Amino acid sequence: MCGIIGYVGKQNAIEVLLSGLKSLEYRGYDSAGIAYLKSNHTQIIKSVGKIKYLEEKIDKDLVSNIGIGHTRWATHGKPIEKNSHPHKVGKFTIVHNGIIENYQALKKILNNYKFKSDTDSEVIAALLDKLYNEKKDILNVIKQLENLLVGSYALGILCDDIPNTLYALRKDSPLIVGVGENENFIASDVPAILKYTNKYMLVDNNEIIEINDKITIYNSKLEKQDKEILIFEGSLEQAEKNGYEHFMLKEIHEQPSVVKETLHKFLQYDLDSLVNEMPNLEKYKQISIVGCGSAYHAGLVGKYLLEKYADIKTDVYIASEFRYQKVFIDKDSLVIFISQSGETADTLASLRKVLEEDIDTLAIVNVIGSSLAREAKETIYIKAGPEISVATTKAYIAQIAILSVMALSIGTKKQIISDKKALEIIDSFKKLPDIIENLIKKDYKSIAKTIYDKDTCFYIGRGMDYALSMEGSLKLKEISYIVSSAYPAGELKHGTISLIDEGTNVIAIATDKNISDKTFSNVKEVKSRGAFVTLITIDTIKDEFDFADNKIIIPYINDFVNPLITIIPLQLIGYETAKLRGCDIDKPKNLAKSVTVE
Ligand code: G6P
Repeated sequence: MCGIIGYVGKQNAIEVLLSGLKSLEYRGYDSAGIAYLKSNHTQIIKSVGKIKYLEEKIDKDLVSNIGIGHTRWATHGKPIEKNSHPHKVGKFTIVHNGIIENYQALKKILNNYKFKSDTDSEVIAALLDKLYNEKKDILNVIKQLENLLVGSYALGILCDDIPNTLYALRKDSPLIVGVGENENFIASDVPAILKYTNKYMLVDNNEIIEINDKITIYNSKLEKQDKEILIFEGSLEQAEKNGYEHFMLKEIHEQPSVVKETLHKFLQYDLDSLVNEMPNLEKYKQISIVGCGSAYHAGLVGKYLLEKYADIKTDVYIASEFRYQKVFIDKDSLVIFISQSGETADTLASLRKVLEEDIDTLAIVNVIGSSLAREAKETIYIKAGPEISVATTKAYIAQIAILSVMALSIGTKKQIISDKKALEIIDSFKKLPDIIENLIKKDYKSIAKTIYDKDTCFYIGRGMDYALSMEGSLKLKEISYIVSSAYPAGELKHGTISLIDEGTNVIAIATDKNISDKTFSNVKEVKSRGAFVTLITIDTIKDEFDFADNKIIIPYINDFVNPLITIIPLQLIGYETAKLRGCDIDKPKNLAKSVTVE
């Protein structure tokens, strides 16, 4: 998704902008550009593709003290140079993240302007220029702009007439202000400024930011606002690869400590923290879970645990569907929103839809201070730290860890789970980091070698294993470009089995002893039609498993802990397979880390 950086200060803005843009690469982009102000004139340099191509176009001796930069992820108009940001019209140059929904209507009142791009964003620069020509009062012009724009935006603005000041504003798209010593920044998120400062401020919707050697924040009535300066606790190193070949691998290796950190507050040595630290959720008759991508898959894992152990009917919705569908949610229900970034447009819109109905909401979010976290009635933060790889691993595991402990907490409060049993389960969670660690060390490369050269793969499983196989399948397809689908094992024979041929890859997951025999029968059905089967199962099932070509046997601990174990081989099979196929693992084509448009 688009990324924004802006700088005013004593350093060379060109270097700061390029460095910031590189830190925003993980958001996904297809072109990049910068604009800098010098002698009351703004110059723009942009390029399609990687930031290195933009860098190649920039004269090494170029120096400026103020500028804005942008990585674009195309929405309106193809990923070509004329559509890349920044856009300049008259005296105004802008970078924009978001979507202007009424840009066609606005073009009608801007009929004196000739537009050079196919974007929705260029109208913003034209509108600013028109308003400024009518009345040269920049703050009022920006205020009027806010009233005219419909949609979402984070904006960085330069005006040729105001050479030392950068303006910014946001509505429903992420934007922070970086606070330095006699230098200040704007950015889509913290990693972009971390090389220069770890101090930042959160910008609220409709605030107007004026940045030069000081920072002034106005509300929409142009009254000055006081803002708290926050300190980002993580180091820049945390946001770098730390010696691993890919961010994805580094993040997979971080999972033991992420699980530990995330659950620390809930799982002390007695039952008190389990019962008291988790919000009171046992009162709800129904839970709905909403998310996109892996967050949705995490919700499916939550459904199995909440229904089985907390005895609460749980429905899981894909946010892009939920926001437009008729939903039947009673006042005595809870709606949980899961999101790593806390900025996913569809999840955020779904939250706002529920808030209108005055129904209780809870966000499970990674990014502190993100929109979802701020707007939901309650928030539980996972403690995954910055996740750079587009394909999520550590945030997903932390999400399912929270849902698992949530089911345990409710089940214990309702006495569906006895205190004694709950203590045993808490204890097993303490062993989890070591179990994950050991499982990460296993050899997945040799399994990947047996499957990487086929272009299709099917994942099958029942119940919880089906939920996990959906995430395993997504991991494989998004980073290795193998066409992959997950099916409930029993459903395969209703059509999909016609696709099984000699050598077709099937990854079967059977970690529930109660129904594993049924899954094994389905494995045998595909095997007898020529499939090449990789089986993931548990050590408490005693079988030779000689019907499978590859076997991965994981320890069975209990139903709460096991989803967090089963996912490890699935992540690493995806990773090793993508590596053998020579894919750009951390930045798969067409994908964005943070999807802030619908
Ligand atoms: C993108 C990412 C996925 C992620 C999904 C939801 O598609 O590539 O990894 O699961 O967005 O993002 P969120 O930040 O809401 O968890």
